[in-house]
Amino acid sequence: MAIKTQPLEVRWNPEQPIEGVTHMGEPGTDPAVLSEIREIRERLGRDLVLLGHYYQRDEVIQFADKTGDSLALSQHAAQVDGAKYVIFLGVHFMAETADMLTSDAVNVILPDKRAGCTMADMAQIEDVEDTWEQLGGVIDTSKVVPVTYINSTADVKAFVGRHGGTICTSSNARKIITWALEKGERLFFFPDQHLGRNTSYDLGIPLEKMAVWNPEEPMGGNESEQIVRARVLLWRGHCSVHQHFTPEQADGWRKRIPEIKIVVHPECSFEVVQKADYSGSTSQIIKTIAESPSGSKWAVGTENHLVARIGREMAGQGKEVYSLAPYACLCSTMFRISPEALLESLRALEKGEFRWHISVDPDTTREANLALDRMFEITKRGNLASVP
Ligand code: 13P
Ligand code: SF4
Repeated sequence: MAIKTQPLEVRWNPEQPIEGVTHMGEPGTDPAVLSEIREIRERLGRDLVLLGHYYQRDEVIQFADKTGDSLALSQHAAQVDGAKYVIFLGVHFMAETADMLTSDAVNVILPDKRAGCTMADMAQIEDVEDTWEQLGGVIDTSKVVPVTYINSTADVKAFVGRHGGTICTSSNARKIITWALEKGERLFFFPDQHLGRNTSYDLGIPLEKMAVWNPEEPMGGNESEQIVRARVLLWRGHCSVHQHFTPEQADGWRKRIPEIKIVVHPECSFEVVQKADYSGSTSQIIKTIAESPSGSKWAVGTENHLVARIGREMAGQGKEVYSLAPYACLCSTMFRISPEALLESLRALEKGEFRWHISVDPDTTREANLALDRMFEITKRGNLASVP
């Protein structure tokens, strides 16, 4: 039976203050906490750089020196110069990546060490190694190019580094997958099956040429012929936030507001992306709506703190921005970076202590940086060749 969804009217009041009550209706932070953060931040001056992902709550992201999507934040980390500390207002894999991209003189801090990413946790290095070995029994893995989404652990990044592969983010996935399919006969993509499928399909690879690898089953749950036939092997991972968006929600919005445009993150399912007018990374979503004509109406399929912020910022241009889902899709791990956790990290830094220090060992860093350097180099390239 088809699920009937009733789109919820979620509009944001641009006048609502940041202190006191948050835009998401969460209990507000004690203004004393925010003032102390400001004071310590000021005292630490140029020794400290704060990098913040768009999914952070407003009360936290207001302190970021640089905000961005995963690609921009890794580029900012690679350019940190002269600072002693980076506080990452994001999740664990982002802080690990920043540690690998900064010099040994820079210490990277994640204010809550429980701020992981459920998707990154779905590809454990032991399972990835085991998959590679199993694949080697059926196909020639020297002709398979492994690509990991940046939402992965440092040791998984090191794996792709030592196997001639690379890393992608949602904003450069087209370029990276094109590169991988030019370089090898097949692509092995993990952990997000949706980004891999949506991008490969967009590049002209039919669904019949893709196979899903379930790490919990022998041969990933496939017959050997399915693997041999596949051009793209997709790890069975997903984002717990973006899996909540459904094609029925898109239908509901179009019925209710026929002129509405739908934009979603490519971590959404294939069916949702096919229903959308546009799909792209967080920064591409922001840009798409910012460049739309005034008065346009949008339903957005991504994390709600970002959707709420876009809605507030665009309200002045007469644009209406709604969440695609009829309920709040929050990234609960991003949410763990609270103002209180940030304050604790700052207080610790002033005492010369790290709360929490994210440090990747030198061997893993060296191999993962091979893959990150390849990613930066491919991202800089000009026009895309068509997929061979
Ligand atoms: P981007 O910021 O690269 O779009 O990624 C979204 C995300 O889910 C980060 O974990
Ligand atoms: Fe991970 Fe999804 Fe949260 Fe991004 S939104 S950090 S992919 S759980």
